[in-house]
Amino acid sequence: MSGDKPFSQACENNKEPILAELKRVLVKHRHVLEVGSGSGQHAIHFAANLPHLNWYCSDVENYHHGINQWIDDYPSANLHRPFALKLARDEWVKGPVKLNTTGIESSSEVFDAIFSANTAHIMLEHEIKALMHSVSDNLPSGGVFCQYGPFIVDGKFTSDSNRAFHEKLLDSGRGGYRDIDELAGWAPKLVLHEKVDMPANNLMLVWRSA
Ligand SMILES: C[S@@+](CC[C@H](N)C(=O)[O-])C[C@H]1O[C@@H](n2cnc3c(N)ncnc32)[C@H](O)[C@@H]1O
Repeated sequence: MSGDKPFSQACENNKEPILAELKRVLVKHRHVLEVGSGSGQHAIHFAANLPHLNWYCSDVENYHHGINQWIDDYPSANLHRPFALKLARDEWVKGPVKLNTTGIESSSEVFDAIFSANTAHIMLEHEIKALMHSVSDNLPSGGVFCQYGPFIVDGKFTSDSNRAFHEKLLDSGRGGYRDIDELAGWAPKLVLHEKVDMPANNLMLVWRSA
């Protein structure tokens, strides 16, 4: 076991409530792309507990070492090593990829589910726009996009602490919280099917291809 893995207490706190939603929503799906896998804690937990799915991690390169450390310690046959995906820089990857010595090799299958947690308020506007557009354009019929995190609902923050954190994010050069209507406007081919209240003033948005 590697003792210096990245650790997020928030992931430990939210992984069970998120898993309960994924178990309910991703019943018939096969290939999940996780955008912004972060520490990798979500990926190892969800892959181990959703064995019918293939879980594909992605993030910007500097997160890969930590994600790989978690995968080394908690491997699952259905859990795949991270590949580089930075929205607004990289081309969208449409389906399962294999990493080989010469780079990425794509298969003919497509991701029929996308998961992303706590990324919408971190990304800059052009990046989150690119994410919403890419999912909208590429999710096949029957596909689902599960987007977890804090959001602005009908122009309002869901708590004072969320408003304060939004201000802090803007001060530090991050994109800040997004209104759900704004996200929907960038994803014309998606329909927001569910907006599930989650602990700590977070939401799980369940988008489906129209
Ligand atoms: C707050 S962390 C969340 C990590 C993890 N999903 C979680 O819930 O703990 C935000 C993540 O978004 C990723 N991210 C930020 N901008 C991105 C971009 N343009 N494309 C892809 N990922 C991005 C970061 O690298 C980081 O992993």
